[in-house]
Amino acid sequence: MHPQSELAPIPRIGYGTWNRSSEEAYQGSLWALEAGYRHIDTAQGYENEQDVGRAIRDSGLDPREVFLTTKVKPGNFAPGRIMPSVRESLDKLGMDKVDLLLLHWPAIKNQFALEDYISQFAEVYDAGLADRIGVSNFTIPLLTRTIELLGDRPLATNQVECHVYMQNRPIVDHCRSIGLSITAYSPLARGRVADDALLRDIGKAHDAGPDQVALAFLLHEGHIVIPSSARKERIVTNLKAGEIRLSDDEIARIRTLEKGMRLVNGDWCPVWDT
Ligand SMILES: NC(=O)c1ccc[n+]([C@@H]2O[C@H](COP(=O)([O-])OP(=O)(O)OC[C@H]3O[C@@H](n4cnc5c(N)ncnc54)[C@H](OP(=O)(O)O)[C@@H]3O)[C@@H](O)[C@H]2O)c1
Repeated sequence: MHPQSELAPIPRIGYGTWNRSSEEAYQGSLWALEAGYRHIDTAQGYENEQDVGRAIRDSGLDPREVFLTTKVKPGNFAPGRIMPSVRESLDKLGMDKVDLLLLHWPAIKNQFALEDYISQFAEVYDAGLADRIGVSNFTIPLLTRTIELLGDRPLATNQVECHVYMQNRPIVDHCRSIGLSITAYSPLARGRVADDALLRDIGKAHDAGPDQVALAFLLHEGHIVIPSSARKERIVTNLKAGEIRLSDDEIARIRTLEKGMRLVNGDWCPVWDT
């Protein structure tokens, strides 16, 4: 376990691998690393940890240069199960620890007690299997209780859905107030931003596409973003969004795109903050 002050900041643009087959996750991660990404997001539930690990090894980079996140799936929250599941993940990744380990979702329908699975999570961190720990899809009440339970172990991020059409103000504002970074997932609204006239219009002044403007907006908000693509040219252009500087007026116009469009929702989800 490292003192947090010695850890490098999380690279602001990562490559997402949800719903990517083995071959896509491998090839996409290789292209991403070649393009200059130094952050990859995978999860037990994506069933491609072994492919991401292989891509990092085959990239020729020192694996320590690549910030890697994986996530524990709620099916592994049963008592005594988190530590072995993380060891299985590390075996698949071919690593002895990850940079960031997240709880992918709160326990579905409270199937497992928060006190128990957070205590297991703390043990994994204390054992040095992850440099940082964080959560995903945690609401304000869950986050508050989790922070209490973790004591002096710091949380590195809350990974939540966030894009121009669902800027997720309640949890974003809360996390900002407690100094916790947001990692924005589905930052391209799963490709929907590509057809947006306002983003396209703003992009003209920056020689950029609507997708890049959508990512630049989230970066301006202070978020980490983890767009996914299976196409090499998009993997490259998505990373270049980091070079765009939007004006205050452009930011204000993009904020008006908010329409509460939550894309990842279902009966496994917690009751979202409003
Ligand atoms: N923690 C969680 O519960 C959770 C949930 C969802 C996602 N995530 C993470 O967040 C990552 C990103 O989210 P996501 O995959 O849901 O959605 P996303 O990144 O918002 O969108 C991906 C979709 O957009 C398309 N796309 C990518 N770049 C584009 C571009 N420049 N122009 C137009 N279309 C583009 C992709 O199609 P092509 O492949 O054809 O380019 C793909 O269909 C995931 O891969 C995963 O790592 C986490």
